[in-house]
Formats: sequence, C-alpha cells, structure tokens
Amino acid sequence: MDDALPGINPHIPSVARMYDYYLGGKDNFPSDREAAEKVLAVVPETRQAARENRAFMQRAVRYLAGQGIRQFLDIGTGLPTQGNVHEMAGPDAHVLYVDNDPIVLAHGRAILSGSEGVDVAQGDLRLPEAILDSDEARRLLDFDQPIAILVVAVLHFVQDGDDPARILGRLKERVAPGSHLVLSHACPNRPTESEDIASVYDLATAHIRLRTRQEILPLFDGLEFVEPGLVNVAEWRPEVAELAPLQGVGDYLLGGVAKKL
Ligand SMILES: C[S@@+](CC[C@H](N)C(=O)[O-])C[C@H]1O[C@@H](n2cnc3c(N)ncnc32)[C@H](O)[C@@H]1O
Repeated sequence: MDDALPGINPHIPSVARMYDYYLGGKDNFPSDREAAEKVLAVVPETRQAARENRAFMQRAVRYLAGQGIRQFLDIGTGLPTQGNVHEMAGPDAHVLYVDNDPIVLAHGRAILSGSEGVDVAQGDLRLPEAILDSDEARRLLDFDQPIAILVVAVLHFVQDGDDPARILGRLKERVAPGSHLVLSHACPNRPTESEDIASVYDLATAHIRLRTRQEILPLFDGLEFVEPGLVNVAEWRPEVAELAPLQGVGDYLLGGVAKKL
C-alpha cells in the first residue's frame, strides 16, 4: 500500500493492518509489517493462528446460516479479505460490519457497498449501546429476530478497565432469544508472552490483553454453548481438507459459539 487515506496514520501500526499482514494481505504499511514481525518473533504461530481464526469465523457463520440465522452484527470486522461474513451468510442475510479503524471503513465501503443487505458502520466495541442504537443498526437489523453477534479476535483489544463482561452483557441483553454470540480471543502460551506481545501493541492503535481460558469462559455467561464449547479455534467443528490445526503446540486463539435461550 503506497498512499495513506485521510485520517489514517501510516506511521502508527494499526491492529487491523497487522492482521492483514499475518493473513498475507497487501493492505499494510512498513510500520505495520515491522510491528507484526516483532509479534511473529515472539509467537511464530501467529500467521497460522490468524488463518485458523478466519476459518473458525467462516465455519461459525455457515453453521448459523444453516440454523436459520439471517442477521449478523460483526464487530471488529478487520480489513475485507476473502470469505467475508456476508459471503458466508448467504445472499438474503443482513450483515452490519462495525469497526473503529477508519482504514477498515474506507476499504469496507469501497468493497462492500452495493451488496444488498450489507452495510459498514464506524463504531467502538467499548461503546456497545452506540453500535446498537446507530442509524445503520436500526435500518438493517430487526432486534425482535435472532441476530448473530460476532466478536471475533477483537475482545483482546479491550482492556480490563473497559469491562469486557459488561460490554458483552449489553449486547446479549438487547438481542432476541435464538441469537448467538460468536467469540474468539487470543490467549498466552509461553511464560512472558503476554508482556512481550503487549509491548509491541502498546505502540499500535490498540493495546492487547491476552486472556486465559479461565478468563474467557465467563464471557459466555447466560448463554448456552453450541458443541464443542470453548476450544482452540481450529478444533471448532473442523471440516475436511482444512489447515492442520495447531493442536498440541498451544491454544493461540480460543473460540466458541453460544446461544441465547
Ligand atoms: C484481529 S482483527 C479481526 C478481524 C476479524 N474479526 C477476524 O477475526 O478475521 C481485529 C479488528 O478489530 C478492530 N478493533 C480493535 N479494537 C476495536 C474496538 N474497540 N472497536 C471496534 N473495532 C475494534 C480492529 O480495527 C481490527 O479491524
């Protein structure tokens, strides 16, 4: 990527562009690549974990579409890549993409605008009410019908002080029974990994807070897990011919899908 769009600082690593780099995308600047390489030096499995996370999200959306879910609220969308939510959800689904990084909005609008039932909105996961009450959400989503809320590989960018459980609580209480939460979250595998990774992201657009399985599990409180529960994202309903999972090496991202009864 050569030119920066208005409001986008190419010198500060963006967590969205770093993720694009892990996935092998081209929408990133030297600052993003440098920061991402520092992360890869600490956790060389990050690239594979990012691909497995993407595949988890895609399987989860296909699963939910198969269950009859026709509305998807994807918070922390990331830069558009292959296999975006609306492509997995089917042509008649309504999909609202929300991200707080202006570069995601610019690319999202350019790539996604024109798709029927799809919109892109600026919003911050830390302010869930503003997302739920946004013009885009009101226009696109029917809160009396089930909605799949995707919080995929984004909650680790929310610090404890912003109270992730409260944020998810607000989202859970506003959606109808039959709605689902799709969540994945990074967790530490090596002794000093949390600190080492955090020191890289401290210089980026968002700080990172890796959380352990014990810390992630309660985020699903009040919902009923879909089998197999909270697992390594690669182990969530894997399909034939997918990437070899990181099984045995470590759980870099844990993910799960749970239903509001
Ligand atoms: C690692 S990417 C994940 C993208 C996508 N969900 C996936 O799993 O493939 C994280 C995304 O979350 C966005 N993000 C980070 N903090 C956020 C916040 N507080 N509110 C909304 N989006 C946020 C970043 O801009 C980035 O696009």
